[in-house]
This record gives sequence, C-alpha cells and structure tokens, in this order.
Amino acid sequence: MNLCRVLMQEHRIIEKILNMFELEIKMFTEEKHIDPISIYVSIDFIRTYINQVHHGKEENILFRELSKKDLSPEHGNIMNELKVEHKYSGNILSKLIVTNNRYFDGEDTFQEIISYLKELKQFYPQHIKEEDEHFFDSILDYFDEEEQAKIISEFGGYDKKVLQWKYRKVETVLKERIQFAAEADINRHHNVEDDKIIPITDQERRRFKRKQVRLSVSIDKFLLKTGKSMSGTILDISAGGIRFSIPKVPVLEMASNRELTEFCIGFNLPNNFLPIVVKCHLKRVIEIAAEIQIGAAFLDTDFHSQEALQQYLH
Ligand SMILES: [Fe+2]
Ligand SMILES: [Fe+2]
Repeated sequence: MNLCRVLMQEHRIIEKILNMFELEIKMFTEEKHIDPISIYVSIDFIRTYINQVHHGKEENILFRELSKKDLSPEHGNIMNELKVEHKYSGNILSKLIVTNNRYFDGEDTFQEIISYLKELKQFYPQHIKEEDEHFFDSILDYFDEEEQAKIISEFGGYDKKVLQWKYRKVETVLKERIQFAAEADINRHHNVEDDKIIPITDQERRRFKRKQVRLSVSIDKFLLKTGKSMSGTILDISAGGIRFSIPKVPVLEMASNRELTEFCIGFNLPNNFLPIVVKCHLKRVIEIAAEIQIGAAFLDTDFHSQEALQQYLH
C-alpha cells in the first residue's frame, strides 16, 4: 500500500460521516432543537478523527517529511494552501464548540451552530478533492519504498497514540468531574456566591511546570453577568491550567462563583496549526489594580491541545 492510500481511505470515512451531517442539520432544523447526543458525537468526530487523527497525520508526518524534500513550486504551494485550510477548519470547529456550549448553557445560538455545521459540511469535500486529485498521487515520487513504509508505520503509531490518549483520559476526566461536583456542593452548602477565591492547593501548584508567557486569549461567557465573551492576556500556562488577566469590570456586572461553573477559553500557541479550545474550572480570582487575574484548571484538553502544550512547554 502506498502512503497516500492510508489517507485516502480516511477520506472515504470522512465523506460517509459528512453525508450524515446533512441529515443531522435537516433534523435539527425541522425540530428547531440541537440534539445533545448527536452534536456531541459529531463534534467528537470532527475534533478527534478529522482534526487530530487525519489532519494530525498529514501535518505532523506527511508534510513534515515533504518539507525535507526539494519540492516543486506547485507542490509547495498546494501544501501551504492545505495547511491554511486545516487551520481554517480548526477555527470553525472552535467556534462550533463554543457556540454549542453556549446553547446548552441556555443561550439561543441555534442558528450559529447550524451555520458552522453547514460551513464544515461544505468545506471538507473540496479539501478532500484537492488532496485526492491534485496532491497525493503526485507527491509519491518524492519517496522511495523504504521511506513510504517508514511513514506508513509512523501513521500507525500516531493512530495508536491518539487512541490511547483518548481513552486514558477517561480516568482523569471522571476524576475532575467528581471533584468539581464535590466543590460545587460545598459552595452550595456554604452559599458561597460572592467569594471569588478558591485557593489552589500546593499539590496542584507542584503538579505542573508553569511557563510565563504573554499571549492573547478569548474567554467565552465568563465573568460578566451579561454573558458576553471577553479578551484577556495569558500570564502563565502549564499542561494542567492557566493564569490570565482581564480588564477590571464593575462589581455588579461580575458573575458569582456559583455562576462561574465552567467556561471555555480559546488561544493560539506560536507555530501551532490548530487553535487550542479548552474547558476550564475556575480556581481563583484576584483583583490587582486595573486588572483581574484568573487562575483556572483545564477540564477537557484534547489530544492535539495536550501535545501542542507539551511541545510549547518544553
Ligand atoms: Fe487535509
Ligand atoms: Fe486529508
């Protein structure tokens, strides 16, 4: 089997699921409601299979190996276009995740969800066509049989890594959910509405190595009672959490701890092909002069985000 057949077989799987998206969009539209299980499965497929497994292999293995070759200008251009398109689809997915979270938090984002699903449904077939018809077969000549076999075996290793990561994290996610529920329960019992500080434990501090950075971050439906998104600056980051600052807002507009159950943030790491979108659990809020500093733990990092963070932190 040549190395591109592996990727083309994945294209056939993606096409089949995209056909289901068509029916899913129709069902949502007719029922004027987003079915939580269908959308969860769809987002998981786009996030894990398309973005992490498939685009991950193209970007991190095939394109990496092609970059070592003396590519024709035409192949170089197509590869760069494909990278831009991967980024584009990653951005739409991020928006879909955020608007879907808002929908299930009670906001009317129905039309936005439908439009992002339609956008993705429209985007992938032309991207796949470009790779199948104008790229994959013609780049095979850059590799001899031994190199192809090596890449195919690396593809297999990559799939295994994603699969193991996905199911190994079940334990961590369940642990976090249980701990989160317990903390919410304590807050309810003590009626903690306006106490903004939930201390970070020493154990949590020691667990992850933090890196000081200055990157912009968007925070979805966070501190404001209005539920508006905000922008801030990341101050430091680790594999397990983040500290960022936002401009000070009037006290009356700030949400209480009870309202700050979970929130979603999005940011880009330098030299990374997909934006990082992750759910967070609030750990602490400190007001300093004209800014508010927020410490939060990551609740649900995907394989790509985890890998990108590890690489960035080392
Ligand atoms: Fe691709
Ligand atoms: Fe592809």
